Amino acid sequence: MSRYPTMPGILLGELFPNFEADTTSGRIKFHDFLGDSWGILFSHPADYTPVCTTELARAAKLTDEFKKRGVKMIALSIDSVEDHKNWSKDVMAYANEAGSPLPFPIIADEKRELSVQLGMLDPDERNKAGLPLTARCVFVIGPDKKLKLSILYPATTGRNFDEILRVIDSLQLTAQKKVATPVDWKPGEKVMVVPSLPDSEATALFPNGVTTKEMPSGKKYLRYTQI
Ligand code: BEZ
Repeated sequence: MSRYPTMPGILLGELFPNFEADTTSGRIKFHDFLGDSWGILFSHPADYTPVCTTELARAAKLTDEFKKRGVKMIALSIDSVEDHKNWSKDVMAYANEAGSPLPFPIIADEKRELSVQLGMLDPDERNKAGLPLTARCVFVIGPDKKLKLSILYPATTGRNFDEILRVIDSLQLTAQKKVATPVDWKPGEKVMVVPSLPDSEATALFPNGVTTKEMPSGKKYLRYTQI
């Protein structure tokens, strides 16, 4: 039996809920908000908290990078739209862009309904009233509205947005080609042919050639190609 039999959440490959929510850009229906784009939803423990402020400022600075990849950004925190709007001014000041609007909306999940539905609450972090705060979730959603990636950090650890962009590059590449990206891969580096692809098809699919690393087992499973 599962240790958390009633724990909600969402698994890779599942359709992301088409929730409705109030945001700093008005009320949205999530699938309409995404349109045909990829999406990233990142949650925050609360407004006016130090780590969250640094994260949102960094995300704001990277707007063009997400745009380049066709990824729509949206944040979530458990405070009100009004709090989000006021906090956004601090965030943009921290990003050295005081007076500019935050370039993506923030969802106001005051009743924590969405946070519960998506399994985002961190039981170890609570506000003054004893209510649990949201963890730092990252959800990447594909154009088919299915969950492609989830990462869950506790409230006390800020995310690495370079890694998030790197992962999106891998997700988008591996959605198109029968490859997988090895440890610490960065765009432009060699990728690996997926194990399910027979050698005969791999040679035809990858015009730059496939190289195989010899292993003590004699098994030829480390196949590289350059995309
Ligand atoms: C923060 O964003 O700084 C934070 C929020 C909740 C717990 C710990 C840190």
